[in-house]
Amino acid sequence: MANALKVGLAGVGTVGGGLLQLLAARGDALAALAGRPIQVVAVSTLEDRRNKSIDISAFRRVQDPVALANDPEIDVFVELMGGEGGVAKASVEAALRAGKHVVTANKALLAHHGTSLAKLAEKSGVALNFEAAVAGGIPVVKAIRESLQGNDISRVYGILNGTCNYILTRMERDGQSFAEVLKEAQAQGYAEADPTFDIGGFDTAHKLALLTSLAFGTEVSFDSVYIEGIEAITPADIEAADDLGYRIKLLGVALRTDSGIEQRVHPAMVPKHTSIAEVDGVLNSVAIDGDFVGEVVLVGRGAGGPATASAVTSDLIDIGRGHILPPFGAKASSLKPYKQAEMRAHEGGYYIRLSVYDRTGAFAAIASRMAEQGISIESIVQRRPRVELPGLDRSHKGSPAAVVMITHQTTEDAVRRALAAIERDGHVDAKPQMIRIEKL
Ligand code: HSE
Repeated sequence: MANALKVGLAGVGTVGGGLLQLLAARGDALAALAGRPIQVVAVSTLEDRRNKSIDISAFRRVQDPVALANDPEIDVFVELMGGEGGVAKASVEAALRAGKHVVTANKALLAHHGTSLAKLAEKSGVALNFEAAVAGGIPVVKAIRESLQGNDISRVYGILNGTCNYILTRMERDGQSFAEVLKEAQAQGYAEADPTFDIGGFDTAHKLALLTSLAFGTEVSFDSVYIEGIEAITPADIEAADDLGYRIKLLGVALRTDSGIEQRVHPAMVPKHTSIAEVDGVLNSVAIDGDFVGEVVLVGRGAGGPATASAVTSDLIDIGRGHILPPFGAKASSLKPYKQAEMRAHEGGYYIRLSVYDRTGAFAAIASRMAEQGISIESIVQRRPRVELPGLDRSHKGSPAAVVMITHQTTEDAVRRALAAIERDGHVDAKPQMIRIEKL
């Protein structure tokens, strides 16, 4: 058998630990697949790493990840530390410059610096593989980069964050508020102590930016992603969605339009009968629309040590086989500049929930503001939610009532203008809630 593929591993946390376990458990089978043993020769990890159950005493320790990236013994630098800059960026750049292949799960790094790192990999003739960076164990990078190459892709979308999907699923099942479920999820270790990246939609946006480049052959453009998180979703919205035949999911959507590419992350109403609506809990799902293949939907574990290690391992096997492709499918030097479609030009149906003072003329004023913007209303109902809205006093006439509207196809710009006018008119006692209805 050929010489071992020698790996330097930076980061022995959940994913790094999972990788060491997988390589130990399946070493012979992997060697047979790769045509050579895959051997970790050195690791770089924090002294006070959390994942103490993994024994790393057999490996040479290199304290500085940049030194590990330059280590003459290694062929591949596996970066599992995370972080959009700092030592992760410095060490990945060092490895690529030194002619080492790189495997990383670091979506933040690639979302911000993917194009320049891909160019560096191309210049050095090495791999920059990142299957684990998008939807953990789901093999979506390979699916787009290799298996769907024959297609013109028009859209890629998905549930790309398990924490958000878990919270929305629990809110729906238990009727609990966002804050209550988040607190419980943190106590059980499902959500990070600082959950901002997940619940604010940023983690989804990092992954979406990578999917966009893979699908459309464009430079990575994280700054063009429109981002809304799930913090403002209430049990009243989830209940109304249910009655209307929808479920609410945090989606990442990249869509080619006549005016450019939309990249957006926001809670969306998805019809209950669609496959994405049925993806619950911490699972992720990615759907790809190709002109010849039609829709392809992948579902699986988007996080966790074993699932993410599975993705890292497949990248290592490819390198072992000498199967080296441009990181984003198209050659890095030929990635097209990203042309952004403005969010205000987005077209679709909208769910709008207003807390309206229950008085004569309020409905009429709202309807006329919508009409002024050319928005056609599909339905409008005054609702008494099964779940009470906090602070909603129904004891006397003139107190606010929940009004839910569904619009026909319109533009984001029209909806925003109409809602601003409705707020100015003073018939509502809170900021209007607006959730986009995704056409699937
Ligand atoms: N924190 C992510 C999630 C996994 O909740 O899905 C890593 O991106």
